[in-house]
Amino acid sequence: MAIWVVVVWFAALTQLSSSSIITSPGFPSPAIKSVHHSKSKGKLYEEKFYTQILDHFNYNPASYHTFQQRYLINQKHWGGPANNSPIFVYTGNEGDIEWFAQNTGFMFETAPLFNALLVFIEHRFYGKSIPFGGKKTVAYSNSSTLGWLSSTQALADYATLVLDLKHNLSAPDSPVIVFGGSYGGMLAAWFRLKYPHVAIGALASSAPILNFDNITSPFSFNDIITKDFRSESENCYKVIRRSWQEIDDTAAKPGGLEILRKAFRICKNYISAGYLQGWLGTAFTYTAMTDYPTPTNFLNPLPAYPVKQMCKAIDDPKTGNNTFKKLYAAANIYYYYSGDATCFDLADDSDPHGLGGWTWQHIHRVLKRFGSNIIFFNGLRDPWSGGGVLKDISKTLVAIVAKKGAHHVDLRFSTNEDPKWLKEVRKREVHIISKWLSQYYHDLADSSNY
Ligand SMILES: *[C@@H]1O[C@H](CO)[C@@H](O)[C@H](O)[C@H]1NC(C)=O
Ligand SMILES: *[C@@H]1O[C@H](CO)[C@@H](O)[C@H](O)[C@H]1NC(C)=O
Ligand SMILES: *[C@@H]1O[C@H](CO)[C@@H](O)[C@H](O)[C@H]1NC(C)=O
Ligand SMILES: *[C@@H]1O[C@H](CO)[C@@H](O)[C@H](O)[C@H]1NC(C)=O
Repeated sequence: MAIWVVVVWFAALTQLSSSSIITSPGFPSPAIKSVHHSKSKGKLYEEKFYTQILDHFNYNPASYHTFQQRYLINQKHWGGPANNSPIFVYTGNEGDIEWFAQNTGFMFETAPLFNALLVFIEHRFYGKSIPFGGKKTVAYSNSSTLGWLSSTQALADYATLVLDLKHNLSAPDSPVIVFGGSYGGMLAAWFRLKYPHVAIGALASSAPILNFDNITSPFSFNDIITKDFRSESENCYKVIRRSWQEIDDTAAKPGGLEILRKAFRICKNYISAGYLQGWLGTAFTYTAMTDYPTPTNFLNPLPAYPVKQMCKAIDDPKTGNNTFKKLYAAANIYYYYSGDATCFDLADDSDPHGLGGWTWQHIHRVLKRFGSNIIFFNGLRDPWSGGGVLKDISKTLVAIVAKKGAHHVDLRFSTNEDPKWLKEVRKREVHIISKWLSQYYHDLADSSNY
């Protein structure tokens, strides 16, 4: 889940296990450097707005308000209503929908196989889908306005928009399949459970739906990060572990903060041991989450298998026994890989992906044991997999688990360097989706006989 606030939120839920390498109690801002909106990809979709209802569950006059909800649409491969061709819908996460669309190559790549229409819907309160006249300061001003920011309302938004779109397209019988990664994956799964008449199936990638209601060990998130690094090398694990104490000790000495500032090339701004530790913790956490097999530009530009690269930097004999030099080299993999920063700005509070409102949602839903047609994908190197569905629940609630997989790696655009296991995962997902569709068309043909 590509979001620092999530980590903050999670840190609140997560106690620290004694052997974990992530020991800082909270994480500061992510220091994500830029939004990687590539202009060349602008033609992937068309941007549209829909007049959405602010409150789906209340008839108070205050709830009659509407807002403009953004969605992106790609009709290039759609077979049209005459063929009842399918509609693939991405249930937007907590952020700018363009960013998620551009990182969900799986939908673009499978659309031609299924003659599918693609729709990416932005989550309310994010990106350009801000209620209260698009004014973020008003929308986020207090608990009354933020009361309309909930996953339940968001799901109702998606249902309303999808039904209206189908109506406009005169495609009442086109089957809908929902997709999502991370929080978007939870929404996709919940959408299928809650609106089974709107979506015939869901692909929920890296959706930690079991992180709620005490189902998952509170240690699992940091344990997985720790295991990711430890599996590279024991030394790497040890260096990271002892570094927290060394930073504390150094910071406590006279002139210690200046030593730390120099060692980590921090720009001349606020620095403390906790901030520095949080900054490093963020790098380890996101690197574990995005430990993809190919170079990526999802959160920050990263090389292939960045955890391995970090440990290589830490294990490099050239840095001898100098913990700070080792950590600096490791942090560089995450914060510096594109090589365009001159010093690191710890106090940078920017939230370039617009992910800030996340902590407001209280999502307390247990996985329902009813339901069908949901694929849960999880990569076990992803710290969020600890809260994922890792075992089949039924014949049609299927878990696909990739030992070497990271955070919703299956949904990303494919590349020539993709390993065989990743190709297999995607093939299996396509196969399951085609089974849902054939079943649907079969049932549709049957019902027309009545
Ligand atoms: C919350 O903010 C809205 C919009 O700015 C305002 O109309 C309303 O009075 C505020 N409510 C409270 C309880 O402060
Ligand atoms: C459906 O068409 C109406 C009328 O043109 C329009 O206002 C509405 O936004 C459309 N719905 C969607 C989802 O685009
Ligand atoms: C979660 O589990 C722990 C340990 O079993 C227990 O102490 C705690 O009260 C539980 N919390 C909730 C919200 O059920
Ligand atoms: C490296 O440094 C750590 C503490 O800074 C120390 O415990 C360890 O013994 C040192 N190892 C070597 C090989 O010098």
